[in-house]
Amino acid sequence: MAAGSRHISDPTTVGSRPDATRERRYQLYDLHIKMSSHRTRGLHGNFGAYARDIYLGPAASSKAPVPADFAELERLAMERLDPDAAAYIGAGAGAETTTRANREAFDRRRLLPRMMRDVTGRDLTTTVLGTTAPAPLLLSPIGAQSLADPEGELATARAAATVGLPLIASSVAHFTLEQIAAAGGPEAPRWFQLYWPTDDELAASFVARAEATGYAAIVITVDTFVHGWKPRDLERAWLPFLHGIGVANYFADPVFRAALVRPPKEDPAAATDHFFTVQGNPSVTWDNLARLREMTTLPILIKGLLHPDDAQEAAARGADGIIVSNHGGRQVDGAIASLDALAGIADALAGDLPLLLDSGVRGGADAVKALALGADAVCLGRPYIWGLALAGEAGVEAVLRMVLAELDLTMALCGFTAVAEIDEGALAG
Ligand SMILES: Cc1cc2nc3c(=O)[nH]c(=O)nc-3n(C[C@H](O)[C@H](O)[C@H](O)COP(=O)(O)O)c2cc1C
Repeated sequence: MAAGSRHISDPTTVGSRPDATRERRYQLYDLHIKMSSHRTRGLHGNFGAYARDIYLGPAASSKAPVPADFAELERLAMERLDPDAAAYIGAGAGAETTTRANREAFDRRRLLPRMMRDVTGRDLTTTVLGTTAPAPLLLSPIGAQSLADPEGELATARAAATVGLPLIASSVAHFTLEQIAAAGGPEAPRWFQLYWPTDDELAASFVARAEATGYAAIVITVDTFVHGWKPRDLERAWLPFLHGIGVANYFADPVFRAALVRPPKEDPAAATDHFFTVQGNPSVTWDNLARLREMTTLPILIKGLLHPDDAQEAAARGADGIIVSNHGGRQVDGAIASLDALAGIADALAGDLPLLLDSGVRGGADAVKALALGADAVCLGRPYIWGLALAGEAGVEAVLRMVLAELDLTMALCGFTAVAEIDEGALAG
């Protein structure tokens, strides 16, 4: 062996390390994790340990069930999905320039790591409007999840509950909001996303059902009162709602059913027609916010704002929080990237309201960039659906744990031990 090269592993011995040593190391490591994280339900801190879990875990079970490279995750998921489902999940509006702009906005920003700070003890715990999460991360509302896996939102709810992250359940879920709540269990943090229908009574019924089943906030999505122009879907003339997917909350609702001549099971075509009549409401204005306020004591967040004036109006009209979002580029092609809209909105609000962001988040480093630009938390969208498509509940859990791990490690490597420490100084330029 050449002098000075003793520290380099001898390739003939790599891989021949006795299994017993590896097993023992893992047991010690596992004990350390159990002692340090007080695991009950949900994960607590030390998320970066997921990487060590993968490297040091017993070989058979340590490899993550989905790729850690999210570009590969997306590619494999799209391959696995039925072509109609792949089109619906992947689609952006028009030429999809806004979907791409969401990514470019993250790529354009660079983190500026700081060194020589003690980052041993990290606490990512975040509370938004009374909902406490182990990290500043939630699951964006995504409808029709049975397109990715037959268990759809139920699998997602179980995975989110295991990890302890709040799930925002969609109005157009394949399962009812009651079934999703039951799947997550009573302890699981959850919010309900509302598309304001053309019938106020139906809105009130949805909100009452959400309140009765332990949803802790209402997220009203205001950017999708009509569906955007999505060539991928148009070319196939295919939408999940035409095939009984994403209509469960409506078909089960007493107000919705009262408007039908026959129950949805007996006349699904008429029920589907009625769904399309009531689901979107282009006449919604700020006055609806006042009506929603009368319907519930839960915190209300507005999802889908991009203009600082709209954010200020939301604050003035009594919203409790805002989710800056362009719906993953699915509504207005050419619209500003969510991340590019964030700083202006954060400035306009000057800390008055909790600020969340989605659209384009593809990992923990992205989350740090959004936190640096003024978000209090971020929401993860398509990536967990890719995980669902590839490995069901285990796939969603793995994706969530990967984002948490990268977030934790990126914070540590940039010199942060708590979310509150992250400000624009985390970014270069
Ligand atoms: C297939 C699909 C379905 C969606 N369904 C809903 C929905 O029901 N309600 C809602 O508010 N947003 C919905 N969204 C938007 C997401 O909440 C989120 O804003 C978007 O996925 C963020 O973009 P990204 O996935 O590219 O990060 C949906 C997005 C996708 C991809």
